[in-house]
Amino acid sequence: MSNTEGHVRIFDTTLRDGEQAAGGNLNAAEKLQIARQLGRLGVDIIEAGFPAASPGDFACVETIAREVTESVIAGLARTKEEDIRACYGAVKDAPRHRIHTFIATSPIHMQYKLKMTPEEVLEEIRSAVSLARRLAEDVEFSAEDASRSELPFLIRAFKTAAEAGASTLNIPDTVGYSTPEEFHDFCRSVIEGVNAPREVVYSAHCHNDLGLAVANSLAAIRAGIRQIECTVNGLGERAGNASLEETVMALKTRSDRYGFFTKLDTTKLHSVSALVSRLSGVHIPPNKAVVGANAFAHQAGIHQHGVMTNPLTYEIMKPKDVGAPGTELVLGKHSGRHAFRSRIEYLGYTLSDEEIDTAFALFKKLCDSKKDVSDDDIAALIADEILLTSQENLYDLVRYSVKSGEGPALAVVSLRSGKGAVSDAATGNGPIDAAYRAVWRAIDMEPELLSFHIKATSDRSDALGETTVVLRSGGITAPGRGVSTDVIESAVKAFINGVNRLHVLASAKGVELSKRRKNYLE
Ligand code: KIV
Ligand code: ZN
Repeated sequence: MSNTEGHVRIFDTTLRDGEQAAGGNLNAAEKLQIARQLGRLGVDIIEAGFPAASPGDFACVETIAREVTESVIAGLARTKEEDIRACYGAVKDAPRHRIHTFIATSPIHMQYKLKMTPEEVLEEIRSAVSLARRLAEDVEFSAEDASRSELPFLIRAFKTAAEAGASTLNIPDTVGYSTPEEFHDFCRSVIEGVNAPREVVYSAHCHNDLGLAVANSLAAIRAGIRQIECTVNGLGERAGNASLEETVMALKTRSDRYGFFTKLDTTKLHSVSALVSRLSGVHIPPNKAVVGANAFAHQAGIHQHGVMTNPLTYEIMKPKDVGAPGTELVLGKHSGRHAFRSRIEYLGYTLSDEEIDTAFALFKKLCDSKKDVSDDDIAALIADEILLTSQENLYDLVRYSVKSGEGPALAVVSLRSGKGAVSDAATGNGPIDAAYRAVWRAIDMEPELLSFHIKATSDRSDALGETTVVLRSGGITAPGRGVSTDVIESAVKAFINGVNRLHVLASAKGVELSKRRKNYLE
């Protein structure tokens, strides 16, 4: 791989850095769906996770390495020997695999976080990269907090990594502090100072704390960077990472200015973005560039007139270039299995024959209560009924009833659990509040509700209600998702799904979840 050709590699870290976003704990089936989509989208490298973090993370990376063959599969590892060995163990079955190891190089991180001298950090880099290189051919080294590191030391760190065999050198703006001109000059000085062999690829990894992650990534490309690390929808810790779809479309739309290309099939951007949003529970603002619901909507009359006469008057990209839905196709009770299957594929899901049979049966059932079934209905149904059933549930909703109107609402819920059936009742401020309190009583636990969102899958009154929540208990956060034509049921299902995920994470981490605090039956 040479630095002078026009190909910019896209390294997607949605499943690793994106996953670190609050409540981003996706289950194994969800991560595999996303990885498959990323493979089909054509990303060059998929960072599938952090194998040493837990046995669950290891297993997820290993499954992705075995199943997704279109991309290089990378895992993250600290410079510790056990991390590097775990990472290799997880990625080794991928036909093309990478070990990505990192350590911080800024004075503040070395002194306060690592409590190591600069010389000790250089020694760590040397031994970690050498070990990784003995295990795998493709090794990436990242200097965490590079943009706040002292340039001469950073150059020594990268030279050490390159001499030990790293073939990708990554410059992260970990805290999102850089500005485009500054980051451009910084990357250029690193590249000139390290002066690595031509086959070494320089990479940038920008965080979005000042809203500059994409601009910084583009500036880095102009400086000689040929790999961009990014996430779908810009998902990631704090303000997130550079958004994959924005970076890729900026390079494509302004190829006149940059003269570089990526190998992505951009017509799949929309479906990947919708999948990641749905599964992570992190919603896309309507005005989000490239994939927001309004990204191609022209409200002002003068714009509409112009677009009708010639779309290029106001549109710099065509909706079809990013796979944005135009006239929405709807399926109904006369639609056959074949049409249903191709719709699922179009939406980016990869399901087994058995899963398609289950999904088709659910679709037919839905057609009994709804005349037209939209793409969003189908995607929500699969996310809820297929991907969630692949995890073991501690609780399942059996039934619920709510009485609301004047005065406080009263809810009764019945759940199935490993220990038998549990039922309880509670009053609350409206039906959902009452139902949630009844669940708290039934499970004797009261997770904090960090976020709560109900969305209709279409603008028709018989739309499915899709609820996403993020729960916290015992210091653990977990998202939850539920779908139903009955919005209260979708909210209760989302809550129970979040509780189930909290239990899975708590037992993996050996953490106690907090008990219920109040009575909630007034
Ligand atoms: O932001 C960062 O520095 C990282 C590294 C581990 C690459 O995510
Ligand atoms: Zn990062």
